[in-house]
Amino acid sequence: MDTQVKPERVVQIALPFMGDEEWMAVREPIEAGWLTQGPKVAAFEKDFANRHGVPHALATTSCTTALHLALAAMDIGPGDEVIVPSFTWVATANAALYCGATPVLCDVDPITFNIDPASAASKVTDRTKAVMAVHLFGRCADMDALKTVIPPHVKIVEDAACAAGATYKGIAAGAIGDAAAFSFHPRKSITCGEGGMLTAKDDVLAARAQVLRNHGASVSEEQRHHGPQPWLLPAFDELGYNYRMTDVQAAIGLVQLKKLDDFISERDRRARWYADALSDLDWLHTPALPNDGRHAWQAYVTIVDPSRAPIPRNELMARLHARGVATRPGTHAIHMLGYYASRFALSPDDFPGARDCERNTMAIPLHNRMTDEDYAYVVRMIREAAYA
Ligand SMILES: Cc1ncc(COP(=O)(O)O)c(C=O)c1O
Repeated sequence: MDTQVKPERVVQIALPFMGDEEWMAVREPIEAGWLTQGPKVAAFEKDFANRHGVPHALATTSCTTALHLALAAMDIGPGDEVIVPSFTWVATANAALYCGATPVLCDVDPITFNIDPASAASKVTDRTKAVMAVHLFGRCADMDALKTVIPPHVKIVEDAACAAGATYKGIAAGAIGDAAAFSFHPRKSITCGEGGMLTAKDDVLAARAQVLRNHGASVSEEQRHHGPQPWLLPAFDELGYNYRMTDVQAAIGLVQLKKLDDFISERDRRARWYADALSDLDWLHTPALPNDGRHAWQAYVTIVDPSRAPIPRNELMARLHARGVATRPGTHAIHMLGYYASRFALSPDDFPGARDCERNTMAIPLHNRMTDEDYAYVVRMIREAAYA
């Protein structure tokens, strides 16, 4: 197909779903003039905590900063090790490095794309302080299996970047481990541009994270502003960061959160439709459905089987791009990224599951602005591109 020819239709890999309610919601903080972390952030945190059945939720600038904050609040630092599945976004491992700790990579299960508990267990040493349980693409990691093989003093941090609204055995993502971090980047189901949320069950951990989020200040700006002595600065007794979300973002987040369940139901319906519509292609494996919880479908990630596919994955992706259908590799394998490979002397075969996921996965469009025609077009183009 001539790549200069305009495709019949363009289907993006992801698009945020926003409307008049989000427009209206941002008026309030803009008119009030309180733009940084304030009443909207507090309301967003409260609703998010309620929705995920967890006592504490702290809004942040991103999931990356929420992950960093979680590890910092756990006092993880130089000399400590954090186990990280290699098939995940680089931020999961970077968070450990930001603390001066060592990310120790382990392999993933190529069917669920999530951490392989046996591989994680094989990486435990006396220095292991935490394990990052990534709920990749919105499917929860097998948390019970992980808890069985990890010593009880090792903290479990859920990387729930993709998993707002997901559940595992009846428990919401974010309420399963010791702490969790969510993302509101536009490729996630609900978004406020950029943003994150740290959730935790433990009061002490949450209080510590709250202080570290705001430069180490003993009270938040809002508390100080509305407190008895707003003219005095708070105490700063430790090194903190500026990881505060703005009230403008939180105003959008509040509206988006109300739509989360509808978004996921629609995605789930479409995911099941894809599985059926693509079932005759023996070289394209559609994602396995969990039987122990609710998938949040942040992304619909297929596997292009290299031993059966009529053309290589990258060629298929290029041909789909020419036909207006956006695709992406699921994510990358951290041990194959230049920085990690050279700093920790890693090679692709060290984690074969993650290596194969990086090479063979292909996310196809799934988002809440797609129409019936868009879905039908994607399926038709996959066939046309593969056999062109
Ligand atoms: C698994 C995972 N962890 C962490 C992140 C980082 O999220 P953010 O962009 O909000 O920092 C992402 C983002 O894509 C992700 O997919």
